[in-house]
Amino acid sequence: MQLRADVVVGLQAGDEAKGKVTHHLCKQGEYTHVLRFNGGCNAGHTIYHNGNKFVTHHIPAGVFFGIKSIIGAGCVLNIDQFFRELKSLKDGGININDMVYVSKNTHIITDSHLNEDRNESKLGTTRRGNGPAYRDKYSRTGLRAIDVEELRPYLIDMYEEFYSSPVPVKVLCEGAQGFELDIDWGDYPYVTSSHCTVAGAMLNGLHPKSIGKVWGVAKMYQTYVGTKDFEPAGDEFEKIREYGEEFGATTGRPRKCNWLDLDKLSKAVKVNGVTDLVLNKVDVIRRLGIWKLIINRQVLEFNTENDMKQYIKNSVSPNINVYFSESKDKI
Ligand code: IMP
Ligand code: MG
Repeated sequence: MQLRADVVVGLQAGDEAKGKVTHHLCKQGEYTHVLRFNGGCNAGHTIYHNGNKFVTHHIPAGVFFGIKSIIGAGCVLNIDQFFRELKSLKDGGININDMVYVSKNTHIITDSHLNEDRNESKLGTTRRGNGPAYRDKYSRTGLRAIDVEELRPYLIDMYEEFYSSPVPVKVLCEGAQGFELDIDWGDYPYVTSSHCTVAGAMLNGLHPKSIGKVWGVAKMYQTYVGTKDFEPAGDEFEKIREYGEEFGATTGRPRKCNWLDLDKLSKAVKVNGVTDLVLNKVDVIRRLGIWKLIINRQVLEFNTENDMKQYIKNSVSPNINVYFSESKDKI
């Protein structure tokens, strides 16, 4: 029995295009499982597969590649949304039979959680019942997948799955949201209610030595959706929003933009033990034609794209791989 896991995590406030990295890794075909390890349907993921557009909130990307896809115990699940996604995948010609599973310990987002979150305005949540569902989980009054009759055919025992398999298990863990939204590491209270770091993946039954590569994903600039002040004055940010199409996949809200913050990025890289760093959407900043980042709370400007890339590479640990990626690239 052998258990190995690679992890994809967000290093900013979500929307770093983690899905793109997950897709690329799934295609390489070495994984037996893809595991969504945190969050609920607050996350949104738009996928173009064989010419069809799919929007998923719960079901991990492995399903598009015939890899067993699991919604882990670290997640909270909206049952109606889960069945809607299953249907849209099926209608779109994706084979879902024996492919999609829910951990029996996953907590359920109920109608009362949804109602409670529906008019939330203090933090600017996605209003998907995420916070109330995790609150009830931790107050030990929550409802779990194992308690729901219609989920029976999809239930999985993570211990048996990972530790009783006759063949080696290699899991790709897909995180939702990102470091700045992590319940413990993010900018509290402007955070989500789950664990968005590698530690969050491990809580789903992966022991420390099983973790191999950690893919940390960020953009060449920052975005954030919520009520806190985030975007400085300046029409550059309006342009970044336009060029980068920075509007929420789940709620359609405009994302607030700022320059890449290298101090925050380095912290997220260290705490996650990132081995491979992907910086997405370089083309957006190239189109803007202004190369700036934040370091020591000051904005630093570079003359060329290359200067800025070199500065970033020199600033993060020399032991990690750094990839710069464009909106349309695979990585
Ligand atoms: P909640 O997770 O819906 O409770 O929202 C808490 C905060 O996290 C809000 O600022 C949301 O906008 C943000 N958030 C939650 N999920 C995502 C996501 O997938 N992408 C970006 N921001 C998110
Ligand atoms: Mg998103």
